[in-house]
Amino acid sequence: MQLQDVSVLITGGGSGLGAATARAMAAKGAKVAVLDMNKDNAEAVAAEIGGVACVGDVSEEAPVQEAIAKAEAAHGVIRVLVNCAGIGAAAKTVGKNGALPLDQFSRVIKVNLIGSFNCIRLVAERMQSAPPIGEERGVVISTASVAAFDGQVGQAAYSASKGGIVGMTLPVARDLASLNIRVMTIAPGLFLTPLLKGLPEEAQKSLGAQVPHPARLGDPSEYAMLAVHIVENPMLNGETIRLDGAIRMAPR
Ligand SMILES: NC(=O)c1ccc[n+]([C@@H]2O[C@H](COP(=O)([O-])OP(=O)(O)OC[C@H]3O[C@@H](n4cnc5c(N)ncnc54)[C@H](O)[C@@H]3O)[C@@H](O)[C@H]2O)c1
Repeated sequence: MQLQDVSVLITGGGSGLGAATARAMAAKGAKVAVLDMNKDNAEAVAAEIGGVACVGDVSEEAPVQEAIAKAEAAHGVIRVLVNCAGIGAAAKTVGKNGALPLDQFSRVIKVNLIGSFNCIRLVAERMQSAPPIGEERGVVISTASVAAFDGQVGQAAYSASKGGIVGMTLPVARDLASLNIRVMTIAPGLFLTPLLKGLPEEAQKSLGAQVPHPARLGDPSEYAMLAVHIVENPMLNGETIRLDGAIRMAPR
């Protein structure tokens, strides 16, 4: 699918990988709606690219329905969904204060895994009513992490949430194949987003040096480049692509 004039919804689009994807898809002529919990960031990115800002939690039904309705009213039925909203939390299964509280584990699963599925199901329901563009109706891209495969100490919840995204990619692609909707997942390695920008430069360099080649942190524009390619390449479906410069994370 070509992005020119296509209606796109990007969750977590107010920051990092989502914001870079919003810019890249807008530069390709897409009409972009950004959904983020952070109102100021969602509005800033939307204003910059001439898009629409939606504010809300991806893991709740009502705000996602509202965002879909707002995007559709402004740009037509959403044809491309990019799930970038996500949170991380580092805590060991049994730590200094005892067992990891279940609500901390559940919160990460709820936002990252259930939030991604929530957006997919509700956007796909709308996509099915739209006429096909050529041989397809829409494309869904979710964001896992290399932590889905090489989770580190303290990443039980995060890795489980991202592993869930990897695990549902094929069955959801199979579910939506008859609707001509493709479903893909990107598993990024280490990217220089606000999270890592908060670290001292030395720490950033040392993390980047662990990447075999290129030995640096990824730039969010490189994630966006792959997201654009996935939309444009009709044979990509039902798969997770690692985007990581060959890094395999050590236990800690
Ligand atoms: N940066 C990396 O190195 C890296 C590596 C692997 C995976 N990822 C994944 O990529 C995605 C984007 O990460 P990023 O580095 O750009 O992070 P980021 O913090 O810069 O952006 C995430 C955005 O999601 C929003 N968000 C969080 N919870 C939300 C919710 N419940 N509803 C709506 N919006 C919500 C935040 O407000 C924020 O704007 C995440 O899923 C993250 O787990 C990032």
